[in-house]
Amino acid sequence: MADENVVLLEEDNGIFTITFNRPEKRNAMNPAMHQQMHKLLSDLRYNERVRVLIITGAGESFCAGQDLKEYFYLLADESTKELRERSREQSNQWRSHMLRLFPAPTIAMVNGYCFGGAFSVITSCDIVVAAEDATFGLSEINFKTAPLGLVSRDISEKMPQRQAMYYALMGEPFSGKRAAEIGLATMAVPKEQLKAEVRRIAEALREKDPIALKVTKDVLKISQRMDYEEAYAYSMALAGDLTYKQDGAWMKSGIGEFIEGKSRPGLNEKDTH
Ligand code: ACO
Repeated sequence: MADENVVLLEEDNGIFTITFNRPEKRNAMNPAMHQQMHKLLSDLRYNERVRVLIITGAGESFCAGQDLKEYFYLLADESTKELRERSREQSNQWRSHMLRLFPAPTIAMVNGYCFGGAFSVITSCDIVVAAEDATFGLSEINFKTAPLGLVSRDISEKMPQRQAMYYALMGEPFSGKRAAEIGLATMAVPKEQLKAEVRRIAEALREKDPIALKVTKDVLKISQRMDYEEAYAYSMALAGDLTYKQDGAWMKSGIGEFIEGKSRPGLNEKDTH
């Protein structure tokens, strides 16, 4: 398959879907894919039509990690130094910075294989929905290396340490069901329900206030590494920012509807009377 189509983008009324599109290579990430993901996310982050971003893989695989041939083996030579450095930088930037801090909610729809560097894709997404029979694996140890780049950092944060260590040392594959049990995935569903479940979540998110969603993401992700005083100060600064950017909508129409008896926010219900 030609390198120009290794990533596909679809838009459906604010719900954008990126599909890794190298099914014949199990969607392994080659330099062309890193370049296109980097460009796509640079553009999408300023596109206000994007209310939710879904990432998935074409065919039976989500992503088989870095392309062992095109990303590692063929770039090992001194003559490919520039492409190697560029690809590493792009690979790191789009997964661990641009995707991790993407302004709109992101959902990884894990439809099949998810190995090695693909863990940094899913840990950077806000929500991970896996097919129960998807196959996850920190396979690096099986070819005499380790989860390097930011994978080790990402799994230490998003997996319980005992499980991260076990799977990284053993290189043993595990299912989507297991990924949900240990908290790596938000949930696992039977494969035939995967698209519908992701769609349900995406549509629900599309209904929420986009500024409040962005603040929710920022406050959860960024205050995590602050001490108590810093976290409070940051949170209050965001509260002011939220009010300013949405012109006080949370107070006016948000709480206003509750006061008027038109909503029960605790149950996510409207027009209750
Ligand atoms: N890099 C490069 N090519 C890959 C990769 C990969 N990560 N994964 C699969 N492919 C290619 C195969 O080379 C093969 O190509 P070919 O048809 O030209 O020979 C094609 O995809 C299909 O692969 P098969 O092994 O034939 O397919 P199968 O469904 O039997 O197995 C599996 C798929 C389990 C993904 C296997 O290919 C595999 O173990 N791949 C390596 C996965 C891995 O360890 N990823 C971590 C990479 S390291 C990192 O991300 C930091």
